[in-house]
Amino acid sequence: MVVSPAGRAGDAYLRHTTPLDTAAAAVSALRCAPRVDTPVGRPVYDGGGVDSAGKPSVSAAGPHAAHRQTSTDWTLRAGVAVAVRVRADSFRRRIALVTGAASGIGLALSQELADRGATVVLADLDLERNEEAARALCARGAEATARRLDVTDPESVSDVVRDTAARHGRIDYLFNNAGINTVGEALHFCLDDWEHLLSVNVRGVIHGVHAVYPIMVTQGSGHIVNVASLAALVPSPFQVAYATTKHAVLGLSVSLRAEARKYGVRVSAVCPGFIATRMGETQRVINVERARVDAAVPLRPYPAARCARDILHGVARNQEIILVTAFARWAYRARRWCPALASAVAGRVGRRGL
Ligand SMILES: NC(=O)c1ccc[n+]([C@@H]2O[C@H](COP(=O)([O-])OP(=O)(O)OC[C@H]3O[C@@H](n4cnc5c(N)ncnc54)[C@H](O)[C@@H]3O)[C@@H](O)[C@H]2O)c1
Repeated sequence: MVVSPAGRAGDAYLRHTTPLDTAAAAVSALRCAPRVDTPVGRPVYDGGGVDSAGKPSVSAAGPHAAHRQTSTDWTLRAGVAVAVRVRADSFRRRIALVTGAASGIGLALSQELADRGATVVLADLDLERNEEAARALCARGAEATARRLDVTDPESVSDVVRDTAARHGRIDYLFNNAGINTVGEALHFCLDDWEHLLSVNVRGVIHGVHAVYPIMVTQGSGHIVNVASLAALVPSPFQVAYATTKHAVLGLSVSLRAEARKYGVRVSAVCPGFIATRMGETQRVINVERARVDAAVPLRPYPAARCARDILHGVARNQEIILVTAFARWAYRARRWCPALASAVAGRVGRRGL
């Protein structure tokens, strides 16, 4: 860990060599290593001098080849072990800020990050639940703090981001997870309904990115993880406004990822299918019976804890789009490979109604 030469005066922003960088270095060292696994008996370049014609001298592989083969195997095995270990260590002693951390996916992410040795700042509108969650993590021996934050308020977001960076010297991960849903036909949405969804799901993510991105650029490292949805990838009747916001989050994420790479900053979008959280209870419904909305979920929702593990698996591998649940993966494939079929299914759902 070295202090970034680009660090601002008075700020303790630190440059980090991430474990994945170390793994990448190990793998590239392996790639650069001379190949010595030529089958026994074939001539190999012995790295020595030149023959009388000025060409590199060659010799039969001979008895040393078997030894070289073994040493290559061990080097490869060690490299793979390092890469696997390094991925497992991606979150140890890292500083992670999670929005919407008091419940559902955000809470599960905070727990999983804490279990992997990260210092977690839990940020949520609901301070009471959030403090309870942070206390429970601390009781398990984790380092966790709770902050009240309203993602719709840019000042509130930048305060929490700035304080986290000042207190811990850096921010390694920002999980822009806070989000809400409203279900119903777009025909019955007033502009305030649209505005509310846009302010939390889109502006909330923009505020997080705007606050943390310059800090990560100064650090020369960091990972922004934006929680979108499967609704960002497939047509989603009765969730038109929600799908609009999640398409925006996906567009922001993949575009910023392309720009941010040169600064050493990573960006991923998460697209989960149906996850078992409080969202089913807390989401607003417009002109539809809540029971019909619940009944419309085609599958048993996926546990939030598994969702969190899947997300961190994708983050450690720096995946651009992290799909969570088999249903989400298949729906995405169907949309890409057979868009007409996916549109027909969505159209049928739209006609049938909730
Ligand atoms: N549950 C699913 O099936 C599902 C599927 C795809 C995507 N998602 C996305 O996952 C994310 C998390 O959702 P969840 O299912 O865990 O929901 P949840 O309702 O369990 O948790 C959302 C959290 O966000 C917080 N929050 C809401 N508005 C906020 C604001 N203005 N500022 C700060 N915090 C705020 C809430 O207090 C709550 O703790 C959301 O972005 C959601 O769109 C959920």
